[in-house]
Amino acid sequence: MCGIVGYVGNREASAVLIEALKRLEYRGYDSSGIAVLTQSGEKNPLTVIKSPGQISTLEKKVKISGSHTGISHTRWATHGAPNEVNAHPHTDQENSIAVVHNGIIDNHLALKRELAEKGHVFRSKTDSEVIPHIIYEEYKANGNDLFDAVRRAVKKLRGSYAIIVLHRDHPDILVCAREKSPMVLGAGVNEGFIASDVTALLKYTNRFMFMDDGDIAKVTRNGIYIEGPSGEVAAHEWTQVDWSIEDAEKGGFRHFMIKEIFEQPRSLHQSQAGWRSEEDNIPRDLARAEMIRIIACGTSYHAGMVGKHLFERFTGSPTVVSMASEYRFADTTSDNPLMIFITQSGETLDTIMAAREARSRGLKTVAITNVVGSTITRETDITMYQRSGPEIGVAASKTFTSQLMMMYLFSAHMGYHKGYIKRDDYNSIKEHLRHTIRAVEGILNNTAPIKEMGEWFSRCENAFYLGRYINFPTALEGALKMKEISYIHSEGYPAGELKHGPLALLTDKTPIIALVASDHTYEKMLGNIGECSARGSPVIAIAPEGDAEVEKYTDRVLYYPNVDPLFSPIPISVVLQLLAYHAADHRGCSIDKPRNLAKSVTVE
Ligand code: F6R
Repeated sequence: MCGIVGYVGNREASAVLIEALKRLEYRGYDSSGIAVLTQSGEKNPLTVIKSPGQISTLEKKVKISGSHTGISHTRWATHGAPNEVNAHPHTDQENSIAVVHNGIIDNHLALKRELAEKGHVFRSKTDSEVIPHIIYEEYKANGNDLFDAVRRAVKKLRGSYAIIVLHRDHPDILVCAREKSPMVLGAGVNEGFIASDVTALLKYTNRFMFMDDGDIAKVTRNGIYIEGPSGEVAAHEWTQVDWSIEDAEKGGFRHFMIKEIFEQPRSLHQSQAGWRSEEDNIPRDLARAEMIRIIACGTSYHAGMVGKHLFERFTGSPTVVSMASEYRFADTTSDNPLMIFITQSGETLDTIMAAREARSRGLKTVAITNVVGSTITRETDITMYQRSGPEIGVAASKTFTSQLMMMYLFSAHMGYHKGYIKRDDYNSIKEHLRHTIRAVEGILNNTAPIKEMGEWFSRCENAFYLGRYINFPTALEGALKMKEISYIHSEGYPAGELKHGPLALLTDKTPIIALVASDHTYEKMLGNIGECSARGSPVIAIAPEGDAEVEKYTDRVLYYPNVDPLFSPIPISVVLQLLAYHAADHRGCSIDKPRNLAKSVTVE
């Protein structure tokens, strides 16, 4: 989604703002813009420059020196086409105030009508443009106090927003406000930063303060002042984020996604090693939960689906998984489940709203996330960090396998403390996980056969991914990866369901990816492969090393190192990520920033 940045300090603000915007490119955008204050004698010191398309186009237009305060924005169009006029920052009609906005103002039409009656003229088709106009009115009416004007203005807004406000008469101040849209403040020496996401600022600082909904902040080079929704001084803690700038760079790889795929032995190890401190913070009574409900979106939802099997197996507690966007609108049930919210970004609005809903029902809530201080950590009772390091590619890869790791560890921990499994079982699960990380290393040491298969696959237009039991979610995730980065239409299906309809779609041009694990589903899966081969579909089996049987059913097999089948979703997922990556690369797709997608989905 959109990215925002604000800077006040001694550096060249325009350079900092453009550099930080580049770090936010991964969130997805279609246009960008910048507003800075310069000392320019008679002229209006507020300069606004905007451009559709790439940030590099904006950068070429920005030839400014002597700016020390400013704001910038990457836009992902919601209201109005992606063009220069609709790009942010937006200004009032006197060009005295510039505003960047993430989110959606639901009541913008009514506000525009009111303002138009007072003579305001709007240039863009956006909802955001009303904001500088309202602030202008409040500023005039209330003694030219910018902070007060923003406080009064945001009271009139309905919807979601993270805004930064710059005023030509206040060269050393930025005012920002947040409601249901992420916003973080950063501190350097004699400089202050604001951004939608810590990765924008890693080059400049590791000290962050996360804003809450309803907060308004004044940021100057000398410090930060925050007020909460009722006007009280909000003293949030500073957080040290231990991600480095190198973590957020490509480091010699062609794409972030392939770098992140190759980082998985390390990220999985970090998740497992970090579990020791997570475990210490889990209240013992959590294990008494008689029912578990996991809530998530997209890839995180698939991790939750794997988790369902694990919680049921290791704790014996019935577990259901719901998509956040659906759970929120479902009828309330009278049961009292432990609620687990999985969101790597910690900012997915549907998941956050579902967590709010669950809390309002008095349920115990746990978050599993990758981002320290993200919104979900404040919306739930307990937070567990997955410690994958920053993920820049829009398509989740290393964060997914770390989420799986968390599902194994958390469910086994719960089962052990409930007395459902023994200490030895818990230890053995951890040992299997260590072995699984070695299996991932094995896959990454020889990716040539997967690359070759990916290149063959790139010529297809439709595909089915089949899995059973714990690898049905793996099939869904593999298909999601393929469709989102290569644009090849791919559907994940429970292998047993194919004969209830979708078989009609099979042709010799519809490849089947069949996920084989040597568990109780093995023979049935071979049967399903046979069904598909008999209809002329090319079948690619992903099977454990040493399985000679599967070759009798299909001659296309990609092998993964042998692991206990219960842990097979991790290595199989890595094979499927590579398959999708190479298919997409061969098709020349924009792998790190697939069309229409954004890394952090902060709209409902
Ligand atoms: C797909 C992908 C998305 C996210 C989904 C939830 O590769 O990344 O499906 O998984 O948008 O995001 P988080 O985990 O941040 O809540």
